[in-house]
Amino acid sequence: MRGRLGILLSGRGSNFEAIADHIERGELDAQIAVVISNASQAPGLEKARQRGLEAIFIGSKGLSREEFDRRLVSTLKEEQVDLVCLAGFMRLLSSYFIKSFPHRILNIHPSLLPSFPGLNAQQQALEHGVKYTGCTVHFVDEGLDSGPIILQAVVPVLDNDTEQTLSARILAEEHEIYSRAIQLVLDNQTRVEGRRVLRVATTECT
Ligand code: GRF
Repeated sequence: MRGRLGILLSGRGSNFEAIADHIERGELDAQIAVVISNASQAPGLEKARQRGLEAIFIGSKGLSREEFDRRLVSTLKEEQVDLVCLAGFMRLLSSYFIKSFPHRILNIHPSLLPSFPGLNAQQQALEHGVKYTGCTVHFVDEGLDSGPIILQAVVPVLDNDTEQTLSARILAEEHEIYSRAIQLVLDNQTRVEGRRVLRVATTECT
């Protein structure tokens, strides 16, 4: 059966759209079971509805982090989600959430982690003066952008880059590596050893 994805987003949802496009083109063998947002007006939610996908707003107002996470987890379990993909989801997850999907939660971040975690990663890279930055898909743990790294893509920083131009080139890479990482994990081609995510050797066909 095709792996069932639960996408969590808070904003425009371009990474969600890239995943959906890869699926539609047959480049990612998965299905999107549900898209959930903590922001009722997130453009990504509307984009999901336009694609005919289940798109749900779950508000966090007045709830503790864990109470909110329990609602998320119960919806994801109802939808029989195999893999949770954070795609611009602007909240830290509680340990309850992390333990509910062990090594089954991915995030995409617009820097070469562990450099520049947190907000405005592209601006942080520019201000630091690095010559290369990029993006990272990683497993989610309880820290901020700190879990084991699955895939990265490198993007050079150009002398005339602004936050906008650099972000746009990084985003194009995000849209490629997220689907590749999802496929690797769904196909059980990754093995986590401490901080390292190793590729499982595939048996040669004769
Ligand atoms: C992306 O840059 C992603 O790396 C970060 O949040 C942004 C989300 O963008 N985690 P979008 O909503 O997927 O367009």
